[in-house]
Amino acid sequence: MHAFEFYQPTAITFGPGTEGQAGPKAAQLGARRVLVVYGGESARRSGLLDRVLASLEGAGLASGTFGGIHPNPRLFQAREGVQKALDFGADLILAVGGGSVIDAAKAIALGAADPEADLWDFWLRKRPVERILPVGAVLTISAAGSETSDSAVLTRDDTLEKRGLSSDLLRPKFAILNPELTYTLPPFQITCGVVDIMMHTLDRYFTSVTDNLLTDEIAEGLLRTVIACGRRAHENARDEQAMSELMWAGSLSHNNLTGLGAPKDFAPHQLGHELSARFDFAHGATLSAVWGSWARYCWETNPARFAQYGVRVWGLDPAAPAERTAREAIDRTEDYFRALGMPTCFTELGCGVLTQAELEELARRCTFHGQRTIGAFRVLGYEDILAIYQLANR
Ligand code: NZQ
Ligand code: ZN
Repeated sequence: MHAFEFYQPTAITFGPGTEGQAGPKAAQLGARRVLVVYGGESARRSGLLDRVLASLEGAGLASGTFGGIHPNPRLFQAREGVQKALDFGADLILAVGGGSVIDAAKAIALGAADPEADLWDFWLRKRPVERILPVGAVLTISAAGSETSDSAVLTRDDTLEKRGLSSDLLRPKFAILNPELTYTLPPFQITCGVVDIMMHTLDRYFTSVTDNLLTDEIAEGLLRTVIACGRRAHENARDEQAMSELMWAGSLSHNNLTGLGAPKDFAPHQLGHELSARFDFAHGATLSAVWGSWARYCWETNPARFAQYGVRVWGLDPAAPAERTAREAIDRTEDYFRALGMPTCFTELGCGVLTQAELEELARRCTFHGQRTIGAFRVLGYEDILAIYQLANR
C-alpha cells in the first residue's frame, strides 16, 4: 500500500425518510439561519423542498430559499446566491438536489464566507480557499458524488470555461441520502449518473501506480455493483435495492476511497468538461462519449491493467492474452454504455460530427490554452487530446 491521506469529514445519514433529519443536523452544527439551495422544479414538485423546510422549522431554524440552479451550474447564479446568503445572514448553506445544486451551494458558501473575494478567483487558483460556511446536502440523484467530494465545478457563462476547484474545506459537513428521492429521476439522468459513478472510480483505477491491492479490490467491487445495479435501475427506477446501492456507490466513488495510494488520472473528465462547457451536455453523457476513445488511445501504456479490469470487473478469461483481454474490456464497457442508452461518440452525444477547427478549439481549451497537460495513466498534451477527440468524432 502506497502512502496516502484520506479525509472524509462528511456525516452520512442513509435511508428512507432521512430528509426529516435536515433540521436536527443543521442545528447540531450550531446553525440558526439556513439558506436552502435547489434546482429547477424537481425538488419542489416532489414535495421534498417543503419537507426539508418543515424539518428546519421543526428544529427552530430560520430558512431562506434560492432556487433555479441550472445543471452544469453557472458562475453568475453562484454570485447571485452569495448575495442572497449575505442579505439573509445565512450561517449554513443546505443543498437540496444533485451535483449541480451541491456545487452551487459550495460556491455560495465560499463566497459568503469571503465577500470581498471575486468568486471566480478561487477557481483560477488566484485566491486560496481558507474559510467557508458549513454546507449540508440532501441528495436527489446518484451521480456526481459532490455530497462527499472535495470539489465544486462551475461554468463561467461569458467565456464558457468549465472549471473544478478542490479543497477539503469544500466537503459537506453532512449528507442526507434517501434513495427513494431518486425514484422520480428520468431514465436518462439515472444512466448519466451510473456512468459518472463508474468514471469516478475508473479515472482513479487507470493510474500510474497500480499495486495497491485493497484499493483495487474496493474499486473493482464498486464497479461490479454499479454495473449490475445500473442495469436494473435502467429497467426500473423504483428498484429499491438497485437505487439504494447506486446512491451509496456514488458517495464512495468520489470521496477518494477507490483510488487511495495512487495519483488520480481524470483525463476523461477533463475531455468531457470541454464538451459540457461548449454544448451544455449532461456530464455523464460526455464521459461515456469520450471514454472508449480515450481508452483505445491509452491502453497500450499498460495492457495488463486493462486486462485486470476485464477479468475482475467483466469476468473475462484470465488465461487469454492480456492484449486481447484489454481490448475486449474496452468493448464491453462501451457495449454496456450503449445498452443503457448512453452515447459512445459525438453523433450519439448530439453534437454531430465536428469540424477540424472545432476539434482543435476543444483541444486548446482542454489544455487551458497551452497551460497544462491532463492525465496520470498517460500524460496527454494538445496533440494527444486532439487525437482522442478525433477518434470520438463519428
Ligand atoms: O433542476 P432539477 O429540476 O432538480 O432537475 C435535475 C437536473 O435537470 C434533475 N434531477 C435531480 N434530481 C432529481 C431530478 N429530476 C427528478 N427527480 C430527482 N430526484 O436531474 C438533472 C441533473 O441534475 P444535476 O445536479 O445536474 O446532476 P448531477 O448530479 O449529475 O450533477 C452534474 C454536475 O456536477 C458536476 C458536473 O460537472 C455537473 O456540473 N460534477 C461535480 C463533481 C463534484 N463536485 O465533485 C464531480 C463530477 O465529476 C462532476 O464534474
Ligand atoms: Zn464526474
